Amino acid sequence: MIEMQGVYKTYPNGVTALNGIDVMIEQGEFVYVVGPSGAGKSTFIKLIFREEKPSKGSINVNNKDLLTMKWKDVPYLRRDIGVVFQDFKLLPNFTVYENVAFALEVIEESPKAMRKRVMEVLDQVGLKNKARFIPDELSGGEQQRVAIARAIVNHPSLLIADEPTGNLDPDTSWEIMRILEEINASGTTIIMATHSKEIVNTIKKRVIAIEDGLIARDEHRGEYGYEI
Ligand SMILES: Nc1ncnc2c1ncn2[C@@H]1O[C@H](COP(=O)(O)OP(=O)(O)O)[C@@H](O)[C@H]1O
Ligand SMILES: [Mg+2]
Repeated sequence: MIEMQGVYKTYPNGVTALNGIDVMIEQGEFVYVVGPSGAGKSTFIKLIFREEKPSKGSINVNNKDLLTMKWKDVPYLRRDIGVVFQDFKLLPNFTVYENVAFALEVIEESPKAMRKRVMEVLDQVGLKNKARFIPDELSGGEQQRVAIARAIVNHPSLLIADEPTGNLDPDTSWEIMRILEEINASGTTIIMATHSKEIVNTIKKRVIAIEDGLIARDEHRGEYGYEI
């Protein structure tokens, strides 16, 4: 569960990105975050995995208070949150297998169990046969699927995706959506910032629209609501 109350974020340069956000997201929800460029979507997302701290207000994620959380406890929070970005952020000189294996935090398990888990998630995203490839040898959609495999390898309760289909063509975007829906069906909360009107209006989910740092709309099975 994610709960924000009266959240403001002003960056050191004086730009106020969030202007009083109140929101509650339950475990297992699928939420699109939409809104114009610069509205505060990425900032909203960064607050959840404590990439940024709010200037004011309270944030609770999975019963952890992110304001009083100590730096040494941040890795424990992040272990339970997978993050996927528009530009994939894979390690270019490592194989698909290694990119996913590096994220695996379970150290008590045997190498055999770790290998099994990595191959299991690669299978889930349809890339078992490309485990030995490096990112450059993959299409954009395949690279994003590696990034998703890496994000879910530790069985997080929450998967955050900031414009995951922003660099992908429509067909590839639908493939990514099918994978995200499958992950959501297994109980994982999904929060996805997107500019895709087609996706939001076709695969109906909760829509939170952020405009000028405020929640302008919050609708169950909502519409995208902007022309582009
Ligand atoms: N690290 C930062 N430092 C200063 N200003 C920032 C930073 N990140 C974002 N901003 C500003 O905060 C506002 C909201 O940005 P962002 O959250 O990235 O919006 P969105 O993802 O909706 O495009 C914008 O005006 C942006 O320029
Ligand atoms: Mg953004």
